[in-house]
Amino acid sequence: MSEYSGKRAVVIGGTHGMGLGVVEDLVAGGARVLLTGRNEKNLEEARGRLGPDVHVVRADAADRADTEALAEIVGSALGGIDFLHVNVGTSEFSPFTEVTEESYDRMFAVNTKGAFFTVQRLLPLVADGGSIVFTTSVTNVTGSPGMSVYTGTKAAVLGFSRVLASELLPRGIRVNSVAPGFVDTPSMGVSGLTEETRAEFMRVGDEATPMGRHGTVAEVARAVLFLGFGATFTSGAEIPVDGGLGLGLSTSL
Ligand SMILES: NC(=O)c1ccc[n+]([C@@H]2O[C@H](COP(=O)([O-])OP(=O)(O)OC[C@H]3O[C@@H](n4cnc5c(N)ncnc54)[C@H](OP(=O)(O)O)[C@@H]3O)[C@@H](O)[C@H]2O)c1
Repeated sequence: MSEYSGKRAVVIGGTHGMGLGVVEDLVAGGARVLLTGRNEKNLEEARGRLGPDVHVVRADAADRADTEALAEIVGSALGGIDFLHVNVGTSEFSPFTEVTEESYDRMFAVNTKGAFFTVQRLLPLVADGGSIVFTTSVTNVTGSPGMSVYTGTKAAVLGFSRVLASELLPRGIRVNSVAPGFVDTPSMGVSGLTEETRAEFMRVGDEATPMGRHGTVAEVARAVLFLGFGATFTSGAEIPVDGGLGLGLSTSL
């Protein structure tokens, strides 16, 4: 029998990058999967890549009406959820003094409010004994310049994931987070990145990361699915997948 056979999984933000990596591992393991995204072109590409058995749904995590509709669609497509992965996230760089209110609101609307209310609305569908995994970020511990708002959005997610872990103990639902460092995805988690800045971002990331390289989507997906299914005595945790960046590992004395 396949590893995830009989499991029903929902990935919020699964059209490309780390979310797509998780989706592909779930599908390979025999799970029934529904994923969301926002951009029509990316949704179409995901449909073409994954085939008709995977439910690919347009739902903007920042839009409450979309979230309401999503719950209905998940209910009729899967009937319930054994594993919910809230991967959605976006970031915009700006020094603290130059952050605009619009940029602040855009990031909090998706990363924090969107994540929060998506889970609140989908929670009645999550089966007792199921699990939820959020994607946070290494920035929760690094204090990276230019990322004040993004870091605030992800720190909030970690905070409310821990409270949710407590509140869901009676239902046997585990709630955990993965905190990626620099990971090679189309967007690197940053909106509007040009090829040039993306290459520079990778170079800086490889230099700053104690393991001397960026991570892969496959490495993050393995950690997500370990928390989702394998880590049966773990809840409220945030696992770094960052090449030692968050802990500042070093070989020098
Ligand atoms: N890559 C990194 O180095 C890195 C490091 C630390 C943390 N992270 C975090 O890891 C997560 C995944 O990052 P990634 O690099 O894989 O990102 P990505 O490739 O940009 O993928 C993000 C996914 O979320 C979807 N999405 C974005 N905004 C949405 C919205 N409002 N509603 C619904 N779906 C939305 C995107 O779909 P559309 O394109 O269709 O909108 C896409 O499927 C994010 O939470 C990010 O903050 C990334």
